[in-house]
Amino acid sequence: MTKVITFFSNAGGVGKTSATRDFGYELSQQGYRVLLIDLDSQANLTDWLGATVDESLDLEQEKNFTMFNAIINGAPLPVPVTRHGMDIIPSGISITEIEGILPNKPLGGENLLRKALAPVKQEKQYDFILIDSPPTLGKIVNLCLMASDEIVVPVSSRNKGYKAVAMVHKKIADFRENNPSLNVATHLITQLNNTSHSKITDEVARQTLKNVSGPLRHRPAVYDNCQLAMMPVGAYEPNGEARKEVMAAVQQMLTYIGVSA
Ligand SMILES: Nc1ncnc2c1ncn2[C@@H]1O[C@H](COP(=O)(O)OP(=O)(O)OP(=O)(O)O)[C@@H](O)[C@H]1O
Ligand SMILES: [Mg+2]
Repeated sequence: MTKVITFFSNAGGVGKTSATRDFGYELSQQGYRVLLIDLDSQANLTDWLGATVDESLDLEQEKNFTMFNAIINGAPLPVPVTRHGMDIIPSGISITEIEGILPNKPLGGENLLRKALAPVKQEKQYDFILIDSPPTLGKIVNLCLMASDEIVVPVSSRNKGYKAVAMVHKKIADFRENNPSLNVATHLITQLNNTSHSKITDEVARQTLKNVSGPLRHRPAVYDNCQLAMMPVGAYEPNGEARKEVMAAVQQMLTYIGVSA
């Protein structure tokens, strides 16, 4: 069965996009068929994997390459691009229009991503669909929460990541009314460094949150270089420590959701 997993926190910069990229890569390296969907109009995931939509296209043309037409017009999913063994549907400026259009759709359009993904799930084309969401509590996030089976909540030990968790949980609880099986797969500790603030956040998260995975340590050189090279951590440094952390976290997540061999 295809698992749809959204990487979600309304806190900015906590590692959602990095984890979507790197978890997707490790899952694909394990032989799983992976589709990444970028639903953040910042398009970081898209850019970091070298999947940017041709910038000479106008907005209407761009909509054929992003999720816009699939969500708003019920079109089939666009043909994805393939990077590092993963399929990816890129984001672009057209995604910003979705927020304004949804309120005019029946039921506020909240089920439209779920509907768009239904045929792909039915055909079992992918084992995992990983969605990168924007750092908001807005309508795009609502689409993601309605369409998902699982949520990965990155909790940064560096900034507001932990503080945001209460709001993230509230939002997920609200969505369980309409999507009852929505589950928090894991709280992923990210960006751990040697400051006491960071260590305390890590400890508190472990004491108070369920299904904790990580930590991914704060490794600016590796993460910056991966973006420049347009590669996931695992492809950029196949034998590096950063990759080992990601692989361990992916394994923890698979165990939590009962997929592990
Ligand atoms: N473990 C890490 N070590 C060092 N830098 C990291 C790490 N994880 C993420 N970063 C960097 O921190 C920044 C924010 O990460 P990322 O974009 O993945 O977070 P995000 O939650 O998706 O952000 P946004 O809320 O803007 O979408 C990026 O520049 C990324 O390279
Ligand atoms: Mg992001």
